[in-house]
Amino acid sequence: MPQTDRFLRACRQEPVDATPIWLMRQAGRYMAEYRALRERYSILDLIRTPDLATEVTLQPIRAFNLDAAIIFADILPILVGMGLDLKFVKGDGPVIGNPVRTATDVDQLATPAPEETLAFTLQAIRQVKSELAGQVPLIGFSGAPFTLASYAIEGGSSRNYVTTKTLMYEHPGTWHKLMAKLATVIGHYLKAQAEAGADALQMFDSWVGALSPADYQAYVMPYSQHAIQIAKSDSNTPLIHFGTGTAGLLPLLKQAGGDVIGVDWRIDLAAADRQLGRDIALQGNLDPIVLFAPIPEIKKQAANILDMVKDRPGHIFNLGHGIHKNTPVDHVAALIDFVHEYTAKDSISL
Ligand code: CP3
Repeated sequence: MPQTDRFLRACRQEPVDATPIWLMRQAGRYMAEYRALRERYSILDLIRTPDLATEVTLQPIRAFNLDAAIIFADILPILVGMGLDLKFVKGDGPVIGNPVRTATDVDQLATPAPEETLAFTLQAIRQVKSELAGQVPLIGFSGAPFTLASYAIEGGSSRNYVTTKTLMYEHPGTWHKLMAKLATVIGHYLKAQAEAGADALQMFDSWVGALSPADYQAYVMPYSQHAIQIAKSDSNTPLIHFGTGTAGLLPLLKQAGGDVIGVDWRIDLAAADRQLGRDIALQGNLDPIVLFAPIPEIKKQAANILDMVKDRPGHIFNLGHGIHKNTPVDHVAALIDFVHEYTAKDSISL
């Protein structure tokens, strides 16, 4: 694969030779190579073994013309280092055996340095960087304070976040202590990934769209802001701030920080562009399920997105959320090549 820095250029809103594309969860079960490894290893084994995490990170880079790699890890192992017991249960997703429910639970949470509990991911970043040899940039990532708090409190995935919001409203002091601990640990983890060689960072606030703007501002925004400040405290590593269901929150997410805002498909990119203004880059936002459509329909929908931000400095094409496990691989390849062909500039003055 030829060397390209168009992803980092787009993060910085610089001119690009074509729109960069990468896919959230680009390494995973839709690829036969990944499924073959998963027959022998659990998801946590893959994440905790740097050689395996490196291999899985590189699988989609070998298979497609992607413009960035993302380190193979998950947002939840950070909670293990803080004292929570995490399992991935087939069919049920992640389960935390000892969820955080009381002030004592929060006081007992550890705030370890990333090198102590997430050294395997930092080592995988170093190995991937060396294997990539500058071909494409590498993205490091973390969950955001709200999304991680929701897993810590609910003990797994949730639909309405009843337990999370009840704690937030009933015991605001406990909530704020928990969020402060998460923000510090997340910020230092992101910073350590940049130090280990990650060229860009993404903070996933996947479930933040469950909040009203007023609650986001009062209970969450200061902590997202603090995590981002720590992450960027001694480097200018671009940071993508991603959430789903954020149509009513975009100016607040921008205020919380980040160089790029990532949005899902529930908002038109043109509307996101108007709400955010042009002094920040934008990432998104094809519905991942569109990849199940016939290829001409995929191209039509991708073109529609690209047309909306044609003249905007700083657009990174992505799905609006993670790729589905049954996605046809040839459709993925067709999307990636189409985005490049459709936006290719014959000559640009860089
Ligand atoms: O993008 C990439 O290629 C990097 C890998 C990555 C994974 N998880 C690997 C994974 C990333 C970026 C994540 C982030 C993540 N993990 C998020 C935020 C992004 C989002 O989708 O909102 C969240 C909420 C999680 C938590 C998580 N991890 C859940 C809910 C599940 C189970 C659901 C499922 O799809 O089975 C996971 C497991 C997980 N993490 C898988 C992968 C590839 C599938 C596990 C498997 O191989 O069995």
